[in-house]
This record gives sequence, structure tokens and C-alpha cells, in this order.
Amino acid sequence: MRTQVAIIGSGPSGLLLGQLLTEAGIDNVILDRVGKDYILGRVRAGVLEESTVRLIDEAKAGARLHAEGLPHDGFSLAFDGRDHRIDLHGLTGGRHVIVYGQTEVTRDLMQARVTSGALTIYEAADVEPHDFGGPSPFVTFEKDGVTHRIDCDFIAGCDGFHGASRKAVPGNAIRTFEKIYPFGWLGVLCDVAPVSHELIYANHPRGFALCSMRSATRSRYYIQCPLEERIEDWGDHRFWDELRRRLPAHHAEALVTAPSFEKSIAPLRSFVAEPMRFGRLFLVGDAAHIVPPTGAKGLNLAASDVYYLFSGLAEHYLEHSSHGLETYSQKALARVWKAVRFSWWMTTMMHRFPETGDFDRKIQEAELDYLTHSRAASTALAENYVGLPL
Ligand code: APR
Ligand code: PHB
Repeated sequence: MRTQVAIIGSGPSGLLLGQLLTEAGIDNVILDRVGKDYILGRVRAGVLEESTVRLIDEAKAGARLHAEGLPHDGFSLAFDGRDHRIDLHGLTGGRHVIVYGQTEVTRDLMQARVTSGALTIYEAADVEPHDFGGPSPFVTFEKDGVTHRIDCDFIAGCDGFHGASRKAVPGNAIRTFEKIYPFGWLGVLCDVAPVSHELIYANHPRGFALCSMRSATRSRYYIQCPLEERIEDWGDHRFWDELRRRLPAHHAEALVTAPSFEKSIAPLRSFVAEPMRFGRLFLVGDAAHIVPPTGAKGLNLAASDVYYLFSGLAEHYLEHSSHGLETYSQKALARVWKAVRFSWWMTTMMHRFPETGDFDRKIQEAELDYLTHSRAASTALAENYVGLPL
């Protein structure tokens, strides 16, 4: 088999890139290790920057997002028993974010791909990129006990943090940077109206809490917890009691609960691999970088990588220029590091670290006080939250 771009991974990165290429008339095949249902079973953050929404529109997968997504003009930072609203709209000259679950983005992109008739091969085992240092790369995989080979011009490694693409790069050609945080997020999903129509990020002596949502009738709540916690020890009642303790009283009283239908503990990590291009192999999204979920930048960063790579590929095929592909890594990493910095900063400011002493606590208090009382500081938070320019 032959295609122009072989895409490894059918998460949001691979699907968005695939749809943009298909719309531009560039042939591509997507391969994933698992099946559709498994991919749609993953629960992840759901805050979209305007530039992410524009790309999803370009991929012709934005109709439901516009009908069902919730525009948010602000959010709350809660500490010291009070709420402090960050007015995204007012501080950024009218910008906002859209709250719409990543699972739904993935579902819409999958549907758009089915409609366009482009090929996706699910449950492909042992997917491996080859010869990307030269002019004729190819990808091999096993399906139903048979080995297959796809020859291509380029390979897009959209296969997430544990994928095969980054692992195929020789160790001396890649450099990685990592920070592991000493806690996790225990999250629940339930069908009940959210406690507030805007998100609440809470810093409390017992730890961080976040009140988020997927829709007007589906809530997503998180609490910071030690990494050693066992999910079996967290019955719903224990979770709701702990969440209430960490929220300002008026929110704790207003919180309506329902049985959770998803509950999991996620570790927090910052990770970046450099560069993001190795000859004809390009790393995209979680394959190249991970951010902690505070600020919900993961999907938006994946989308900005896709934007730079798609622009480079379109330039290559439609304008016969290699400039966009040659500068992909540099452009993508410049934006990646700013989002890595922002996610790290927001995580550091909002969580209780096991090693936090009195001095660190005072610094956190001063930072939150400054942030919520200085227009300049609030503006810096708001412009990063709605997304830096592409
Ligand atoms: N071979 C083929 N496919 C693979 C392999 C492999 N060896 N390893 C992983 N995959 C597939 C996974 O099954 C998954 O469907 O690659 C896909 C990667 O998807 P994601 O992990 O969702 O990564 P990405 O598309 O870059 O999404 C970025 O998702 O994790 C969030 O925070 C992240 O929001 C961000 C977004
Ligand atoms: C979520 O809804 O899952 C979510 C929202 C905002 C975040 C992180 C996660 O910062």
C-alpha cells in the first residue's frame, strides 16, 4: 500500500491532522493499536481555545461543537474561603474558551473521517516507522496475523506519550525534559448540573480542587490526592465530603451530587521531547509533550502542532516549498514551552506540595493576592488561558 502521509495514532492529533489533509486533497492513512470504542472510552479535559475550534471547523467537524459547546467568558480562583473571578472576556478584548469534552471532539472527528471515506486501520499491532532518515520512509504493522507495509512520503507520529514513534528515534538524536509532580488528580464524572456555570479552581489547605463540566447536565470534579491513593478507597460519599471541604461555603452548600459513573486517578507530569522532527518523521501532540491538566492545555497544544505540521505539508504538496516542514519543530516547540511554563505555573500556584513549608505557603498567598488584585497579572493569566497566538 502507498499513501502520502502515514499517521500513527487515532487520538485527537491524528484525527485532526488526517481530516485537514483529506480536506486539502492530501492522501493519508491512520493506524491505531486499539479500536474506536477504546479510544472513545478515554475521559480527558474539555476546554478549547478559539484557535482549536477554528481548526476543528476547518476539518469540517465543528457543527456539534458549535451547537452544544458552552462558551465561557471567565472562571473562578477560590482561596481563603472566597471566589475571585478572572474575567477572560474583559481582560483579553472579547475572547473566550469553549467547554466541550475531548471525547466528543474525538467522536466528531471520527465521524467526519467516516464521511470523507479516508482509511483508518484500527487494532493494528506492532506499528513501526522505518527509514525516516532517508527519502523513502515506510510503516509496518501486523493485522490479523499478517504483516503489512505502507510506503509514504512522511510519517506523523500522533501516537501519544507511550507510542512507538518517539521510541523509534535513536537516543542520541533526541533530548527529553521532565518534571513529575508529587500528587495526582482524583476525578469523577456524573450526570448532574454543575455547581457553578463557570469553572472553579480552588486552592485549599487540604489540597487543590476543580469544579468543571461537560455540559449543563454533566459535571466533572477533581481533587488533588497523594499518588499512592487507591481508587477502591474512594467511595462517592468520601469524594463529595472532601470536595465540599475544599470549596468556599456557598459552593459547598450549593453542590448537588449524583452517583459517579467514572472515577480515576491521573498522575501529573510535564514532559517535552526535542526536536519534534527527525527527517521525514514528525512528532505531534502527546507523543512529543505532556502538560499537567491545570489550565487544560493538552488538547490545545496538540491542535497547534497539527496546525504547524498541516501548514508545512500543504506548503510542500501545493506550493512545492519545504520551508514549513523545515521550521515545524522550531515553531511548534516555541508554543509548547510557553504552555508548559503556564501549566507548571498554574499547577504550582494552586496545589499543596508535600514539601511546602511556611515560606512557600506565604509566597503562594502573595502570588494569589497579586494575581487577583493586579489587572496586569490577571491579564497575563487570562491571555495564556484563552491561548497564545499560533
Ligand atoms: N501504535 C499505534 N497506535 C498507537 C500506539 C502504537 N504503538 N501507541 C499509542 N497509539 C494510539 C493510541 O491508542 C491513541 O489512540 O495513539 C493514540 C494517541 O492518542 P492520545 O494519547 O489521545 O494523544 P494525542 O492524539 O496527541 O492527544 C492529545 O489528548 O492526552 C490528551 O492531554 C492530551 O489532550 C491532549 C490530547
Ligand atoms: C476538565 O473538565 O476535565 C478540565 C477542565 C479544566 C482543566 C482541567 C480539566 O484545567
